[in-house]
Amino acid sequence: MPHTIAVIAGDGIGLEVVPAATRCIDAALALGGERVDWMPLDWGSARYHREGAMMPADGLDAISRVDAIFLGAVGDPSIPDVETLWGLLIPIRRRFGQYVNLRPVRSLDGIASPLASGERTDLVIVRENSEGEYSELGGRFGSGDDELAVQNDVFTRRGVRRIAEYAFDLAGRRRGRLTSATKSNGIIHTMPFWDEVVAAVAAGHPAVEWRAVLVDALAAELVRRPGAFDVVVASNLLGDILSDLAGAVAGSIGIAPSANIDPTRTHPSMFEPVHGSAPDIAGQGIANPIGQIWSGALMLSHLGLADAAAALTRAFEAVVADGVLTRDLGGDASTDDVADEIVARLRTMEA
Ligand code: NAI
Ligand code: MG
Repeated sequence: MPHTIAVIAGDGIGLEVVPAATRCIDAALALGGERVDWMPLDWGSARYHREGAMMPADGLDAISRVDAIFLGAVGDPSIPDVETLWGLLIPIRRRFGQYVNLRPVRSLDGIASPLASGERTDLVIVRENSEGEYSELGGRFGSGDDELAVQNDVFTRRGVRRIAEYAFDLAGRRRGRLTSATKSNGIIHTMPFWDEVVAAVAAGHPAVEWRAVLVDALAAELVRRPGAFDVVVASNLLGDILSDLAGAVAGSIGIAPSANIDPTRTHPSMFEPVHGSAPDIAGQGIANPIGQIWSGALMLSHLGLADAAAALTRAFEAVVADGVLTRDLGGDASTDDVADEIVARLRTMEA
């Protein structure tokens, strides 16, 4: 039985990069005579305007049994972000226990780093994806000049422990180095708690060399010496910020992939690029599809389709190395040009 994949192209450039990616994935699978069943869903801002909600009320039930979710991006200038993100993306991450947000950042041949040093990057950000700073607790009180807003962060021992365990395990399988992002000098309750739980988990992984670094200094170090990092574990907000930074250091936010993983495999995991819906370039056919395609490779390997994942990765790396680049990388290829080249490259692999 082929795997069933729910496809939510969503908004903006999601509508362009998702179809580009699915045909590359189909071509990679075809090499081994494999295929997946795509289940396209029209969830997103257009549906919100039409029907008043980003997805149907029973939407999460409808996709609870698929093998994976392939998402483009959500977000539209005509709707507050709180409606779009909390109406679709965040409920999926939480309901399906996708507490790991895995964000590999790797320099590709053919893509110049914006850094003068040109230093190569090969790291993975492990972002906590279910709690932390992204919480519904809080509110606005008072009015006028006396108005105030309170936002409560939620860090649970279970939540911090499991993300730290995942990150240390991953570091053990990679180069054995882990950096924990913290801010325990300014955030005096949650961040010392984070540090304490991470240190306890570290004790169980003596082979991994690790340190906690204040996130402001860490941001600077990621720019100065990106090559020195292996695995970075961070809370929901800090991981979000650091992953755009690291993606930019490797060349462009347009290439950065991500996987929202339920490591227990009880629920479907979700694969999406790090970038958003990019309304500033949407509709022009110039979005970089590599972040979406690379997310597709992560999805294939999560589903156990390792050969197709490897072929897809080799194909997009080769096309990028050949200089078929979108505008964000200094080229003039369109979204479809890049996908066409990748499909063509995959067909030669078959021959
Ligand atoms: P963004 O990532 O959409 O865009 C930031 C900048 O990067 C823009 O200049 C854009 O043109 C460029 N860019 C992004 N992806 C690109 C690609 N594939 N190729 C070429 N250039 C690319 O972030 P922004 O502008 O802050 O957010 C836009 C909307 O997306 C907002 O509504 C936001 O809430 C939403 N968003 C959604 C996410 C998701 O669905 N996971 C993640 C981040 C933002
Ligand atoms: Mg982000």
